[in-house]
Amino acid sequence: MSQPRPTPRKPGVEPWVAATLLAALPLVKILVDTTTGQLGADPVEALIRRTGWWALTLLVATLAVTPVRRFTGWNRIITIRKPLGLMSFLYACLHFLLYVGIDQFFAFSYIIEDILERPYITAGFVALLMLLALAVTSRRDSIRKLGGKRWRRIHFLIYPASLLAVLHYYWLVKADTRPPLAFAGVVMVLLLARLPGSRLFSRSLSTPVPR
Ligand code: HEM
Repeated sequence: MSQPRPTPRKPGVEPWVAATLLAALPLVKILVDTTTGQLGADPVEALIRRTGWWALTLLVATLAVTPVRRFTGWNRIITIRKPLGLMSFLYACLHFLLYVGIDQFFAFSYIIEDILERPYITAGFVALLMLLALAVTSRRDSIRKLGGKRWRRIHFLIYPASLLAVLHYYWLVKADTRPPLAFAGVVMVLLLARLPGSRLFSRSLSTPVPR
């Protein structure tokens, strides 16, 4: 009996490779600007702000993948969700390490005080812990080890993590609250789209999701 032939892959760059490279571009720009002294008057603040902004932007992009798949019916887009999420975590780790190393000079007693007493740092820290939980359970065999139900429950943390990251941003801005409010609006729409029974973005979902 003849074996079924595997579906031939279309030539070209895999979506997840393109997504990873695109998500790495801001980091390259940050490195170039650092080495050429183009970070502005306060380089430490610029580095912390830029890594934080990209962590949040990539987190929101990760959240948007499933609604975009539902709306467009382009199922392979799902393969970019994990790399985008991991790149968001990478920027969040750099953001945190820059704060610990070059903003606080590893003064751990002050850092702990900050986490416990400054609400915007508390929110950022809890968001980071949630992203850590998502990252360590992102391997494919985690679903088997944890069981689908528990794995899905852990991965729902992406919503509170995004809301906390937006709150962190909103609490730290001193004047113009429009950027964090814009992020809040996008996160809320994406969250509503995932509620059970929501018809938002559910135009088509015909073929099974590739793993
Ligand atoms: C322990 C964890 C964290 C700490 C200690 C921390 C700390 C900071 C600090 C000190 C700033 C700059 C504040 C200022 O300029 O006055 C900042 C900005 C920011 N952080 Fe965090 N952060 C943490 C986690 C996160 C996470 C997990 C995200 C997103 C996923 C995030 C997103 C942002 C954003 C968007 C900004 C503002 C960027 C801008 O001004 O354009 N932070 N954070």
